[in-house]
Amino acid sequence: MYVCVCNAVTEGQVRQAINEGALTTYQVRQKLDAERVCGSCDDCLEDYLAEAFVFASHGLRTATVK
Ligand code: FES
Repeated sequence: MYVCVCNAVTEGQVRQAINEGALTTYQVRQKLDAERVCGSCDDCLEDYLAEAFVFASHGLRTATVK
């Protein structure tokens, strides 16, 4: 599933970037070499980051979707 249509970025790529250490939407975009174009994906990226923080606070990692 595409999370960022402007850059053809998938959910799996976002989750991988977060699992590799991205802590902000800016860092996710940096890791994926994806510029902020329309910004429609901002809320979705923040939701994935928030989910990862909750999982990490419980000692878990989010699943990587291929
Ligand atoms: S959908 Fe991500 S910048 Fe447009």
